[in-house]
Amino acid sequence: MNAPNKVPARPDPHVMQTYGRLPMALAYGRGCWLWDTEGKKYLDGLAGIAVNTLGHDHPKLVPALQDQVSKLIHTSNYYQVPLQEQLAAKLVEISGLSNVFFCSTGLEANEGAIKIARKFGHDKGIDKPEIIVYEKAFHGRSIATLSATGNTKVQAGFGPLVEGFVRVPLNDIAAVQQIAETNRNVVAVFLEVIQGEGGINPTTSEYLRDVRKLCDEQGWLLMLDEVQCGMGRTGKWFAHQWAGIKPDVMPLAKGLGSGVPVGAIVCGPKAAGVLGPGNHGSTFGGNPLAMRAGVETLRIMEEDKLLENASRMGALLREGLQRELGSLPGLVEIRGQGLIIGVELDRNCGELLGQAAQAGLMISVTADRVVRLLPALIINESEIKQLLAILRPLVKAFLAKPAP
Ligand SMILES: Cc1ncc(COP(=O)(O)O)c(C=O)c1O
Repeated sequence: MNAPNKVPARPDPHVMQTYGRLPMALAYGRGCWLWDTEGKKYLDGLAGIAVNTLGHDHPKLVPALQDQVSKLIHTSNYYQVPLQEQLAAKLVEISGLSNVFFCSTGLEANEGAIKIARKFGHDKGIDKPEIIVYEKAFHGRSIATLSATGNTKVQAGFGPLVEGFVRVPLNDIAAVQQIAETNRNVVAVFLEVIQGEGGINPTTSEYLRDVRKLCDEQGWLLMLDEVQCGMGRTGKWFAHQWAGIKPDVMPLAKGLGSGVPVGAIVCGPKAAGVLGPGNHGSTFGGNPLAMRAGVETLRIMEEDKLLENASRMGALLREGLQRELGSLPGLVEIRGQGLIIGVELDRNCGELLGQAAQAGLMISVTADRVVRLLPALIINESEIKQLLAILRPLVKAFLAKPAP
């Protein structure tokens, strides 16, 4: 790929101002590296918020997508899409679940999961089905998914919220048991295995197994939102696999298409037959380009052993962060698994996003105080060292300033 001419980044007067953007624009990328329109180079520790599984300009993905673009980009779900069956079969194989519905984004996958839970309840004669959701959860920005989200900032201004959600704290099985004893309308438990936007908050394996057991006893669906923490990021295909359990419903998106929008609701036998003809649909969902991106992403992940790489590089990164930042006053905790990592500080640290970019590193700050790292699964040891070398002095200098 040739570098384009230098073009300075400028504000966009016609784009709705829903994002607090940095005054810069990216022009092209290769592997874990990005270049902006002025030619400055960045190490990508964010991968488009857990999307670019294979980094940028991947030598196996790009020709496959070019081939697909020249054949078919989109048809319609009026007809069979053989690539859907190919991707569904692969997702079934790696998840141990049974059927897949394709959509395009994370919120769309979660919205579909909520519909499955509600219809599952109605089919059992529960007229007002309720879903257990979590404090600090993030499930998307549609009206139903923001209602399921546990963040008042995301909800503010959009009431009335969708009803039918009961909220509990994470990793507190007694809170779920108490609801089971008193509320006969519950149909499902819906949670992220590692909360992403909420600050990289992992569920414990013990908690996940307890929730699975309770769901079985109560006849509830276990719905695990793996939109951010799934797709190999933790070193297994899906984060819940570390606990040795299976969900009934698993919404996916982000890393599944390595940058091409692909969402999926992967279901086990208890949930797979709930939606029938006419109950759900998506114009773009499952189109040939999206499906090819998913098929090739999974194929390349296997071929290039990217689960192992995510585990090894994640361990190196966490060890490095612990070694270099762990003892700094003001550092609260380093959390995560594989290549989904949060560094919690004792104060709001949004300014680190811009400072890191200036220093040539893409990161994110979430839940106000958590530096979040989500690099591509192809990252190597030398890039991990470079990431640490850029991040360490920034965090050190930031924490050295008196807390406001
Ligand atoms: C766990 C989780 N679920 C759902 C979503 C929403 O995905 P999308 O932005 O593709 O709608 C996100 C996005 O950050 C997420 O992290």
